[in-house]
Amino acid sequence: MQRVFSGIQPTGQLHLGNYLGAVHNWAKMQQHSDAFYCIVDLHSITTPQKAGSIGRETLRLAQMLLAAGLDPQVCTLFVQSHVREHTECAWLLECTVSFGELSRMAQFKDKSSRHEFISAGLFTYPALQAADILLYDTNVVPVGADQRQHIELTRDIAERFNHRYGDTFVLPTAVVPATAARVMDLQRPSDKMSKSLNSPKGTIDLLDEPTHIRKKIRSAVTDNESDVRFDVANKPGVSNLLSILAAATDRDPNTVATQYHQYGALKDDTADAVIALLAPFQARFSELEADPAQTSRLLQDGADKARELAASTLRRAKTNIGFLSDTY
Ligand code: TRP
Repeated sequence: MQRVFSGIQPTGQLHLGNYLGAVHNWAKMQQHSDAFYCIVDLHSITTPQKAGSIGRETLRLAQMLLAAGLDPQVCTLFVQSHVREHTECAWLLECTVSFGELSRMAQFKDKSSRHEFISAGLFTYPALQAADILLYDTNVVPVGADQRQHIELTRDIAERFNHRYGDTFVLPTAVVPATAARVMDLQRPSDKMSKSLNSPKGTIDLLDEPTHIRKKIRSAVTDNESDVRFDVANKPGVSNLLSILAAATDRDPNTVATQYHQYGALKDDTADAVIALLAPFQARFSELEADPAQTSRLLQDGADKARELAASTLRRAKTNIGFLSDTY
């Protein structure tokens, strides 16, 4: 069975974009692979965070992921900071990646241009991400297109390490799922729906009430034409609605487009589909929210399982480098 690994940061709300773009697909992949899903809280502190809030956000994200269908009976869900091996392995990989390679990362260039304080951790972020992936002998990493470069770098790091110290790490492959929607902001359809965009009317929060969801979708920006077709460049608003409707109902946006002749009907059906998709999610979330200890226990079990695998990979890496053994 293929090993799958992916990670998500605990900061900010989970919205419809994350759900249809990533989490929906994670829930599918757990069925036919050995999937590890990690809440990457250590990555979150690469940019300054308010003291005391990250734990609460981590628990809440875990509840959301469980509500969205991650099943701890079939996948391993855990918190990055609970498994120390990640930071230790990251050091080995920081010494395997070059300053030049890290400087070329688009996410670093983007984030460092938006923050005044640029931490060293923000720069070495991809080495920690590589550790996340390589510790689990991962074959497949489902990610958004923006993460492809980090996975390519992870492969390069693994190859270099294996070349220097002997066969240690499995080379992972990024998979950008074809069916995952790229959900755009409803008011500004040329921007990705994002927690950092600060566009409440353009963003659908997973806990939004049905009436709000319908209102936001009804007032989504479209265009002055009237034909419904999937054409992201020329019709970003309409195409976004088609992507959302298609992803929410597991279809293809081009096929969906042939069934509509006016925007009103498309909006109504998109709202219905999103509301229907989120209803069971919201119900499950309330249950989980009422019993936080249950989620904490699940995360502890997840970390125990993850640690076992991570520890054996880290040991192999340290042995292959040739550090003096701490046992004899
Ligand atoms: N960098 C990823 C993002 O911004 C999050 C992440 C951290 C990740 N570690 C990972 C994704 C390992 C996949 C695999 O979305």
